[in-house]
Amino acid sequence: MSTQIRYAVFPVAGKGTRFLPATKASPKEMLPVVDKPLIQYAVEEAIEAGAKNLVFITGRHKRAIEDHFDVEPELERLLASKDKEALLEMVRNTVPPDVNCIYVRQGEPLGLGHAVLCARPVVGNQPFFVHLADDLIDAEEACLAQMARVFAAHGGSVLGVEEVPHAQTRQYGIIDGEPAGAGLRRLRGIVEKPDPADAPSNLAVVGRYILTPRIFDLLADTGAGAGGEIQLTDAIARLLREEPVFGHEFKGLRFDCGSKLGYLEATVHYALKHPELGTEFRRHLASLDV
Ligand code: UTP
Repeated sequence: MSTQIRYAVFPVAGKGTRFLPATKASPKEMLPVVDKPLIQYAVEEAIEAGAKNLVFITGRHKRAIEDHFDVEPELERLLASKDKEALLEMVRNTVPPDVNCIYVRQGEPLGLGHAVLCARPVVGNQPFFVHLADDLIDAEEACLAQMARVFAAHGGSVLGVEEVPHAQTRQYGIIDGEPAGAGLRRLRGIVEKPDPADAPSNLAVVGRYILTPRIFDLLADTGAGAGGEIQLTDAIARLLREEPVFGHEFKGLRFDCGSKLGYLEATVHYALKHPELGTEFRRHLASLDV
């Protein structure tokens, strides 16, 4: 099996209920953080890690994502006629020309595991990235690129993990692992959303995965788990009995943009870093009497 990962899967068919009513008719993944939608940050990260084929698992009300990565001749003509070169470049380059976008429809949101399984006819027998766009990670080296280095060195599947407060284990897949190098654990087990009292650690899986294609066989044979959904975690729990699976503690700052507070924190963080807005925004924040 090649160690080059060329496929990135973006499950974007969820309902985004925590963000209603904003997500009633438009996708959570199109929420902008300052001036870029979450899905654009996601795609840029996957491309930095070497992905050439972007597989979006979409559902109803997700057309805006396809439109975002499509050409927009009318808008391009308008920007060209007004000599707005920088904006024109931005609009043209939502994906580089050597990268393919492929859309697969998940008829019903039966769970993240089911969404990943929908990518099988496209990905086939290759290792692949899974990227959940609502986990936004600001890192010097893209989180998926860090994980791709682990995959190249060790083989096996790799999950992005980070420590969370024990009280929050109910919100995540939590791993049980033994040290396997700096910031690396080899998994002995993984459980979805355990009570803090039952959690094997406080190392939580965030929305970054490198998976070997064996996961597809296991997903095809995994029934509904926590919350009545087909859980990716349950298939990974079976995978690690057959193949090595690693947890990589990535370097970077993660924002849970699926929650309102995480989204606001990300907005402030990226606004402060923004080359055009940063200075003025910092001044504005300093002037607030809060
Ligand atoms: P979440 O658990 O965050 O669910 O899904 P959600 O629907 O996006 O948001 P809330 O919790 O209702 O607010 C994790 C990821 O899996 C995708 C989602 O789009 C999200 O990226 N997903 C989930 C699917 O693509 N299909 C599904 O059936 C379920």
